[in-house]
Amino acid sequence: MIAPSILSADFARLADELAAIEGSDWVHVDVMDGHFVPNLTLGLPIVEALLKATDIPMDCHLMISDPDRWAVGYAEAGAHNVTVHAEAAGDPTRIARDLRAAGAKAGLSIKPGTPLDPWLDVLREYDTLLIMSVEPGFGGQSFIPDVLDKVRTARRLVDTGHLTVLVEIDGGINPDTITQAAEAGVDCFVAGSAVYGAADPSRAITALRDQARTANPRFTPA
Ligand code: DX5
Ligand code: ZN
Repeated sequence: MIAPSILSADFARLADELAAIEGSDWVHVDVMDGHFVPNLTLGLPIVEALLKATDIPMDCHLMISDPDRWAVGYAEAGAHNVTVHAEAAGDPTRIARDLRAAGAKAGLSIKPGTPLDPWLDVLREYDTLLIMSVEPGFGGQSFIPDVLDKVRTARRLVDTGHLTVLVEIDGGINPDTITQAAEAGVDCFVAGSAVYGAADPSRAITALRDQARTANPRFTPA
């Protein structure tokens, strides 16, 4: 799956920018509060407007300090998947249950320096594990290959039935990095600048998906 991030889109033309990625699996929306991360983007009112403007399942990545209070609103609004940061969550189990009760999938994200092990129990409550491959806050940063060890661990745990999450990666995914991420076992690739920086975003999505399929035969449809 490819999830283009609208962080790299033209914020004055968001409806058009959603139309430009029509063939994508998810659309990734980065909510930043200027507190958990040193950048400020958009919040629930804009997410509600975006939900009205597209049928693409929305993947809300909440880089906010108090997800215990705010995350469920995104699920109630109709987001398909709502991801909170492990580093910010007060009661991650309760958040996951609230998100699911509101009809969304629940995602847990870890920053590049955050180990996976302490979160394995809590992840039983979650549908998605978002492994950050840049420090959250800005698009267009360089991929941090060290995080692929966490991807491989998560892949192994899923493949052996110990976890049931979708493994998602976010940050610095482009034609130069997607192959190694696919080989490590990622299911869903967020790509901001690689999609919206391309002359033809929908072509860029197709090219990234083809590359991931070639790198990991697991993705090849039977
Ligand atoms: C960064 C965001 C990413 C960002 C990725 O904090 O979470 O989703 O948009 O952008 P690229 O693909 O340009 O690294
Ligand atoms: Zn993101």
